[in-house]
Amino acid sequence: MENGSPDAPAERGHWGSKLAFIFAASGSAIGLGNIWRFPMEVGKNGGAIFVLVYILGVAFIGFAVMLAELVIGRYSQKNPVGAIQAIKPGSLWKGIGYLGILTGVCILSYYAVVAGWAVGYLVKTVGGAFKGNVTSKLTAELFTSFTSNPFQVMIFFVLMMGLTTYIISRGVKAGIERWTKVLMPILFVLLIILAARALTLPGAGKGIAYYLKPDFSLLSGKVILFAMGQAFFSLSLGMGTMMTYGSYLPKRDNLVSSAGWVCFFDSLIAITAGFIIFPTLFAIPGTSLDAGPGLVFQVLPLIFPQIPGGYVFGILFFALLSVAALTSTISLLEVPVAYFVDERNWPRKKAAWLMGFITFLLGIPTVLAFGANKFLTKIDFQGKMDFIFGNVSLAFGALLISIFAAYVWGVKKALKEIESGNPKFVLRPVWVFSIKYLSPIVIIIILYFIKTIAG
Ligand code: TRP
Repeated sequence: MENGSPDAPAERGHWGSKLAFIFAASGSAIGLGNIWRFPMEVGKNGGAIFVLVYILGVAFIGFAVMLAELVIGRYSQKNPVGAIQAIKPGSLWKGIGYLGILTGVCILSYYAVVAGWAVGYLVKTVGGAFKGNVTSKLTAELFTSFTSNPFQVMIFFVLMMGLTTYIISRGVKAGIERWTKVLMPILFVLLIILAARALTLPGAGKGIAYYLKPDFSLLSGKVILFAMGQAFFSLSLGMGTMMTYGSYLPKRDNLVSSAGWVCFFDSLIAITAGFIIFPTLFAIPGTSLDAGPGLVFQVLPLIFPQIPGGYVFGILFFALLSVAALTSTISLLEVPVAYFVDERNWPRKKAAWLMGFITFLLGIPTVLAFGANKFLTKIDFQGKMDFIFGNVSLAFGALLISIFAAYVWGVKKALKEIESGNPKFVLRPVWVFSIKYLSPIVIIIILYFIKTIAG
């Protein structure tokens, strides 16, 4: 952003260039959602059939909702609450913004704990935990002993939250643009190398089949709900992140291609991560497909000893995963902070540290929910938070955003704003169909299934 002076809330900055925006938005989108959450959801929801629904969801719904968020943000140049208010003053629709703030803080509270695990694994890898004869029994024990130790986890959680808060307190520019530009491409290259090794392990074939050959008998409302939830989560949709990022976009930019690139990069990283996890899981057996939050942490270290220089690759991997997580935690905290800065005229520093502290408090039960506290572990506190905020609330937010863009603001006005930076909007009919009919209808149907799933 140009001129992102932290203490001058009236002066809203802009991204330096269109590319800078694509990198920043991809930085938000690419994170634990791609490498930790995506494989975990694939493993819990039947493999390839989930992948298929997910890809369709990104292409036909995620892309449309992303464009809607970006166009609302850029048109109003405001945080989600202010943006809705600018378009429909004095209406209840600004609740979309408040819901987004709540959802963002709640997602961040457990997301930053898992981001802390990634840093913890970086330290372990440096210490040589994954050298020599690494078995799935060993990685499972290591995961349990690490995550059930609240003191260790707390240190890394506080580190991640502190860094996030510090970067946000200094303004968006200093943080996101610079990091993502260099580090995301390196992460991608690293994933490709690991995937290449995983795919050539003896016995990898079963994993590839599980990942790529859909079993249509497994298709259910539950699969669709979780695949759509994953699409929204991974693309950072449904809570105003992309609205906020869009609000820092200059009018001349082409929103359509920006949204397209972000969807493409984000899915590419997630799909590549799956090409590491599933071949490895089947080639080196012992980890259960529904291992949940531990899946990636238990499977990935198995592949490092299989490649020359694996020690260095392991370190690089967890270092980059930590950075990828950080560019996402930043975007989660930016939404509430932008609200207090824009609408309440708070100094950026105050908004950042207060919101950061509240998030930290909310994260404590998640720290304790992996063995340290019996009750929180038994009720699967982190899983519940992820279900409520990472699936249901995001889907509900995306539903409201679609309806707001299509019917309250109106497709015509939205199109005018989109086309101001893109006179040849080839996908226009597709977008209109999706935002008016497909997205709201599909989301309503999946929200209906929640009763059967949660009940
Ligand atoms: N998309 C990020 C990931 O995949 C997480 C994230 C950042 C997010 N901002 C968000 C999720 C907003 C939902 C909404 O890791």
